[in-house]
Amino acid sequence: MKIFLTGYMGSGKSVVGRELAKSLKYKYVDLDDQIELMQGKKINAIFEERGELYFRKFEKQILEDILEDSSKMVISLGGGTPCYGNNFDLVAAKKDTKTVYLNASVQVLTERLFPEKIHRPVISHLETREALEEFIRKHLFERAFYYNQSQIVVKVDEMTVAEVVNKILEKLQ
Ligand code: S3P
Repeated sequence: MKIFLTGYMGSGKSVVGRELAKSLKYKYVDLDDQIELMQGKKINAIFEERGELYFRKFEKQILEDILEDSSKMVISLGGGTPCYGNNFDLVAAKKDTKTVYLNASVQVLTERLFPEKIHRPVISHLETREALEEFIRKHLFERAFYYNQSQIVVKVDEMTVAEVVNKILEKLQ
């Protein structure tokens, strides 16, 4: 079984994914880390030097490699991964996969992302908290179409990491 975590930047995919993998004794893969490892560069640098389109093609390639691997694993996707090309369908079409959407509100995402937006190329140009909130509101509205196709949806706003992991474990049964 492979469990794919989806959701907007800042929704907790990486931290929850790592803990969920530990609980299940599954391998853990962070798609962004994998991309950085293979490229020998930070995501920011890939966007800057090669552009987003190159990043999205490479992201898709890594996703396809992961789907070919038969290990039990938890995978944290990038915030944009399920929203480009047929990525979501590729994941859904494989048997023994589960998709989980970590659903966080615009307010919570804004609070979490504002202090660290500099590391995230999609939002680093937004100067004020208000501009960031406005951007996330629109962007999340577009992306929620994809995230909401996940088989399991967990509303994470008021929850600790451990609570989110337990909720996912409960819903996986
Ligand atoms: C992106 C999200 C990032 C990373 C890249 C693009 C996006 O992943 O893949 O910066 O388009 O939402 P996280 O959601 O893990 O931060």
